[in-house]
Amino acid sequence: MAKRQSQENIEGKMADQWSLYSKKVMEHFQHPHNVGEIKNPDGVGHVGNPICGDIMELYIKVKDNKIIDAKFKTFGCGAAIATSSMVTEMVKGKTIEEALKISNRAVAEALDGLPPIKMHCSVLAEEALNAAIEDYLAKKDKRK
Ligand code: FES
Repeated sequence: MAKRQSQENIEGKMADQWSLYSKKVMEHFQHPHNVGEIKNPDGVGHVGNPICGDIMELYIKVKDNKIIDAKFKTFGCGAAIATSSMVTEMVKGKTIEEALKISNRAVAEALDGLPPIKMHCSVLAEEALNAAIEDYLAKKDKRK
């Protein structure tokens, strides 16, 4: 009897946890967009969160100062996957200057929000994008 009650408690708590995530977060977590690598990318960003251990790689292809493609590989939590998916959607078609203005808050808002405890996951997406752009700009400078 006590065992069944504790199982019901666990199930109840899990149902509460799922309800913290928006429908959009769940969609991007379950069916992430732009997963994978870009061959011969113009910029790559590798970032990680030393506390949770999650890592993210983001690849961009740039033409005429516009990001024409973006892909990612993320080894991390569901929120990290959803934010990677969303940020790669958001940057396509943006100029480098516009892409640099995409903040982690904008990514979280585009996903209809994240639970406060998961906001740091969106920081990883912003950092990966910035790192990929920095890599692109550094390579461009070298070619000059
Ligand atoms: Fe590490 Fe989400 S828990 S990025």
